[in-house]
Amino acid sequence: MIGPAISVSQLKKAYKKNTVLTGVDFTVENGTIFALLGSNGAGKTTIINILTTLIKADGGNAIVGSFDVDKYPNKVREHISLTGQFAAVDDILTARENLELIGDLRHVDDSQQTAVDLLMKFNLTDAADRRIATFSGGMRRRLDIAMSLIGSPAIIFLDEPTNGLDPQARNETWQTIRTLAKNGTTVFLTTQYLEEADELADIIAVLHHGRIIAQGTASELKKLVPSGLVRFTFGDEQKLVTAIGVLENDYAITDRDDLTITVATGGSVTQIAELFISLRDAKLEPTDFFQQSPTLDDVFFKLTSTATEEK
Ligand SMILES: Nc1ncnc2c1ncn2[C@@H]1O[C@H](COP(=O)(O)OP(=O)(O)OP(=O)(O)O)[C@@H](O)[C@H]1O
Ligand SMILES: [Mg+2]
Repeated sequence: MIGPAISVSQLKKAYKKNTVLTGVDFTVENGTIFALLGSNGAGKTTIINILTTLIKADGGNAIVGSFDVDKYPNKVREHISLTGQFAAVDDILTARENLELIGDLRHVDDSQQTAVDLLMKFNLTDAADRRIATFSGGMRRRLDIAMSLIGSPAIIFLDEPTNGLDPQARNETWQTIRTLAKNGTTVFLTTQYLEEADELADIIAVLHHGRIIAQGTASELKKLVPSGLVRFTFGDEQKLVTAIGVLENDYAITDRDDLTITVATGGSVTQIAELFISLRDAKLEPTDFFQQSPTLDDVFFKLTSTATEEK
């Protein structure tokens, strides 16, 4: 494939008066895992639907597998597969039957052998002839991803691949996705979980208020927030509110559910000591405190709160 696997510029989409995408830009290189990160309703599925030719954008353009999605949707479809947000396996059929059915639909040479190979690869051989109705969520997801690999697409789209899975099933799915990328498949996935993006993605793009507000590797994104973070926990909301007044600086993230405030310092002893002196002067005793490295959560909160203020 010539050029990047996916390249999107100034993509726009509205549903009647509800503007969802205001101008989205990003590029996905071949053979990489790209995570589109955004909260509920940010427009992740809308982007996937445009890139997989299910719906049309109102403006901008998108190239997938070297073809323009608008002009050559059939060409695009030859290079991709989509695993939707909700498992698309047929409950009445067995795992083997589901795989063979898709193999026949996609005209693979030997759909029976393809099914056998995929069952093996996804650790489903023992369950091959059970109806999907009896499968756990993790097994369904594995089968769902296995189905998307039939016909060896160059680019696979996974819309919230681990949504609703327990930690073990989620880990299995992560492993599967990593293996795909190792074998050269380009993976475009959406997630609401920073941890998932951090675990899997080569590049993360944060979608918020209709556009990409940041993108880069996990460590590049983490550099967007200051180091030398100190997180204080207080015993009750009253103390937290007082602490907010005392400690508030340019970078302060408060979490009223956890009764914590995280503030940035330059990381020096003097700067950290000043925080404690301010607390002592205000006669505020935290129940807990620790110094921490920035997490993607911090990045996300920082970015989304700034983007909201600018709006
Ligand atoms: N077919 C549609 N008609 C009208 N509005 C829609 C349609 N599809 C999505 N929307 C709206 O567009 C916005 C973005 O939806 P989208 O499904 O792309 O978000 P998402 O990021 O995938 O969310 P989630 O994490 O919940 O899956 C939402 O406000 C949604 O209500
Ligand atoms: Mg969605």
